[in-house]
Amino acid sequence: MAGEVEDQLRAYVEYLRDLGVHDFYRRGEPVVFEEPVAAPVAAAAEVQPAVVKPVVAPARPVAVQQETKPDIFKPDFAESSIPKPVSFDLLAPLPASRLAAEARPAALKAILDEIGDCTRCPLAYAGRHTIVFGEGDPSARLMFVGEGPGADEDASGRPFVGKAGQLLNNMIGAMGLTREQVYIANIVKCRPPQNRVPEPGEANTCSQFLLKQIDVVQPEVIVALGATAATYLLGVKQSLAGLRGQWHGCRGAKLAVTYHPAFLLRDPRQKAEAWKDLQMVMKEMGLKAPAKG
Ligand code: URA
Repeated sequence: MAGEVEDQLRAYVEYLRDLGVHDFYRRGEPVVFEEPVAAPVAAAAEVQPAVVKPVVAPARPVAVQQETKPDIFKPDFAESSIPKPVSFDLLAPLPASRLAAEARPAALKAILDEIGDCTRCPLAYAGRHTIVFGEGDPSARLMFVGEGPGADEDASGRPFVGKAGQLLNNMIGAMGLTREQVYIANIVKCRPPQNRVPEPGEANTCSQFLLKQIDVVQPEVIVALGATAATYLLGVKQSLAGLRGQWHGCRGAKLAVTYHPAFLLRDPRQKAEAWKDLQMVMKEMGLKAPAKG
């Protein structure tokens, strides 16, 4: 019984997370309002005697308090210790040219070698078995980016091979493509314990390698699967609803945001919405759904 409740709770937390509700488990320090201490303008340049600011909580009018209430969709990075996500476009200059197709497999292998037996972030010590680099056509027109490996991926070393992966395969098939024709990778390459969301430090540490993979493959279109992929690729922390249904940019590619397949497994009613996102991608790429046979 207790296990059942725990499973339900975990599913609900993941459901919220996939909707883009981040960090609802850590809202930061409670807000304490300080009474503003006005210094006379003329005396601003002079050394002021130390002023002990009286702490009065709450000291602001009700309307202002409502404005400053923590917003779970837009955590106040300036006031928190959570590093602000930076878009992949700002992390490094865009590549000036495109690698020849025959040079791309070796370039990807060089990134894999650079990663080595990585111990750059805490995920290396959190029960990881295999680094899940990513796979697919080094010249793919379309790249999917997920969040991070789960148990099946950690065991096999391949991205999206579990239940969510089977659904992703179906999504790719419905677009008239095969898994071998696309490239699939994740924001982090090591499994976070209990499949939790990667911490910003982990995602930021790992980003450099995904960025290099994108620059080698240079897909025309990237599909961000879920809120974590969208957050780090675009450098924004927004609900999926605010990001879906429009084109974004990432490393010279067009980027679309859709639901994570794991979310669609939990809430299959949203599959129709995800299909709209994929149709937008298909239209852009001139793809046709295979005839039903
Ligand atoms: N979920 C992900 O985000 N990535 C995987 O590779 C598997 C499940």
